[in-house]
Amino acid sequence: MGVLNGKIAVVTGAGRGIGREICLSFAKEGAKVVVNDLGGDRDGTGGGKVADEVVKEIKDLGGEASANYDTVGTVQGGQGIFQTCIDSFGAMDILVNNAGILRDKTLYNMEESEWDGIMEVHLKGHYNCTRPFVRYIRDDNRLNCRILNMSSVSGLFGNFGQTNYGAAKAGIAGFTRSLALEVAKYKCTVNTISPGAATRLTIDLIEAAGRKYDENDWTQGPEQIAPVVTWLCSAAADNVTSQIIHSQAGTLGIMQQPAVIKSFTTENLWTIEQLDALMPELLEAKKHHDDEVSEKGAPEKV
Ligand SMILES: NC(=O)c1ccc[n+]([C@@H]2O[C@H](COP(=O)([O-])OP(=O)(O)OC[C@H]3O[C@@H](n4cnc5c(N)ncnc54)[C@H](O)[C@@H]3O)[C@@H](O)[C@H]2O)c1
Repeated sequence: MGVLNGKIAVVTGAGRGIGREICLSFAKEGAKVVVNDLGGDRDGTGGGKVADEVVKEIKDLGGEASANYDTVGTVQGGQGIFQTCIDSFGAMDILVNNAGILRDKTLYNMEESEWDGIMEVHLKGHYNCTRPFVRYIRDDNRLNCRILNMSSVSGLFGNFGQTNYGAAKAGIAGFTRSLALEVAKYKCTVNTISPGAATRLTIDLIEAAGRKYDENDWTQGPEQIAPVVTWLCSAAADNVTSQIIHSQAGTLGIMQQPAVIKSFTTENLWTIEQLDALMPELLEAKKHHDDEVSEKGAPEKV
């Protein structure tokens, strides 16, 4: 008896990398899975049927799966992905918004197409795929559904050469927080994943940073994200919502969310003199907080 027995899931961008591993884990835990993938290149151009290979792998394991090749980047594509799930399995419980591409450039050199392409797949992709699902949840009063959104340290911490990707990935964390409030009455949880894994998106970046890529090292591989996402979709995570869960390099963590660390109030408009006095206090409080968080967040061995 798997922890997702009887559940029906859609995973976008699941022909390779992290999405593929999530599909295999879902199927092993008893879920029926729609494997979506456009099958394009790393920058989102082109297309192919890589989803078929994952569907075959799942069927070979004795599971049930169906392929979809639509892009997440259009409203029509998002609707098509949802419809494939309904047509194949008659219902839907889980959506993993995983599809992703990269078009790295510093902002000095970034063309409009490099900005728009990233927004289309990552940020608008979340709108395109999630809207049909949440409308279905509301209209059918389908309870206990799950939505998992893929952010990145690029958006949460910042990364050189990725203003487009970082903006989209930070937006995805904001999308999660607001959507979690909207679907709470249907007991649907919405969480953000901050993954880190060696895939075709990152292997060259890992090597450029001077680290050695080892395909046999599970702490580098995309398989480490799959059990975490699977757990968040299980009944054990009924009350876990609006969180950012970090899974990278064999480490599992939870991230802080934006919060006011220290504040002052005044009865009159702020004066420059007051700000001269108070801003250093705020910055000092922030530094103290950052130091504390960095110490508390260091991984503990289990
Ligand atoms: N690998 C990492 O370290 C890392 C870090 C942070 C975030 N992420 C995010 O995790 C997700 C998965 O990335 P990955 O590393 O497994 O990359 P990957 O390239 O191995 O897989 C992404 C898949 O998405 C598919 N895809 C791209 N555009 C699509 C579209 N418009 N419609 C449907 N499918 C599309 C691709 O064909 C590909 O198979 C992405 O959202 C990525 O931004 C990855």
